[in-house]
Amino acid sequence: MTKIITTTNQKGGCGKTTAVISLASALAMRGFTVTVVDCDPQTNATQAFGVEAEDLDDDQFTVVDAFLAKKPADQIEMSFPDRIGGRLYLVPGSRGVSTVQFRFDAHINERLATQEITQIDADNVKDDQRRRLKTSLDSLRGKRDFVIIDTGPELGLMMTTALIAADYYLIPMIPSGYDLKGLKLLMKAVNQIRERYQPNLELLGVLLSKVKGTKLDEQIRDILSAAFEEGDLMKTEIADSVRHREATLYGVSIHEHAPGQAASMQYLSLADEILDRVGNPKPITGLPASQEVSLETRAAEG
Ligand SMILES: Nc1ncnc2c1ncn2[C@@H]1O[C@H](COP(=O)(O)OP(=O)(O)OP(=O)(O)O)[C@@H](O)[C@H]1O
Ligand SMILES: [Mg+2]
Repeated sequence: MTKIITTTNQKGGCGKTTAVISLASALAMRGFTVTVVDCDPQTNATQAFGVEAEDLDDDQFTVVDAFLAKKPADQIEMSFPDRIGGRLYLVPGSRGVSTVQFRFDAHINERLATQEITQIDADNVKDDQRRRLKTSLDSLRGKRDFVIIDTGPELGLMMTTALIAADYYLIPMIPSGYDLKGLKLLMKAVNQIRERYQPNLELLGVLLSKVKGTKLDEQIRDILSAAFEEGDLMKTEIADSVRHREATLYGVSIHEHAPGQAASMQYLSLADEILDRVGNPKPITGLPASQEVSLETRAAEG
């Protein structure tokens, strides 16, 4: 059944969006249907699909409609029939994402001021607002194999709401951007979300990216191994490669930009490791015959 994964790390530029797009397209190459959800007002994940949030048709909904109009994600999704077997979908982002928190707060404050609701009601409205993304994405359960959420570099409403919507969270990290204090705050937020909203939220893993193989990288890998439990660090690491920066610039996935090259193969290995971690599901829609063989070979190898 559908697995919803969110990336989280309030550190900017640590490879979240690159991980979302590269992993989503790797899973699509393995025969799975994947919807990417862009919750970052920078709309980098949307751009990575070659879509400009500002140029969307007037009747095309965005992730903001999931929050403000309670639109189910299956009515927001865009499809890309010509890319990776048509298995990739996008819930496009919008700069308007940055206004959602403000609008939510204004709505509550206005109703408090006009004495329509009590303070306790206000808490309930807040809870409902925080669950809007989850409710919207639940419309994709049973339809897509994976839903992968991209969040921006802050521990605000979007990250909270994405964690509430998710079954798993992935922490992309670059050794040079390692920040233990930030990580502790993130883990605190995760624990609070588990207690109040989503008890089954599970760490998928910590993904080291832009790894250069220096002594410092090794030291940080050791610190992280000690800070997390055994097996929390993904075995697959993503090396620093100019191919990723190029793919970002051209608005294509790494697998379309540099097929067969290390940068692409590392993300395919990551997809395989993640498939293992989530119990080796079969695609909901069934696999094309050619992919079925490669998956079975992989299972036999594993
Ligand atoms: N493995 C890599 N090797 C080299 N460059 C990379 C790698 N992964 C990502 N990059 C580049 O680093 C930059 C930042 O990556 P990305 O946008 O994925 O980070 P982010 O965490 O999403 O940033 P933000 O916090 O602003 O959303 C991009 O230009 C991207 O192409
Ligand atoms: Mg990003």
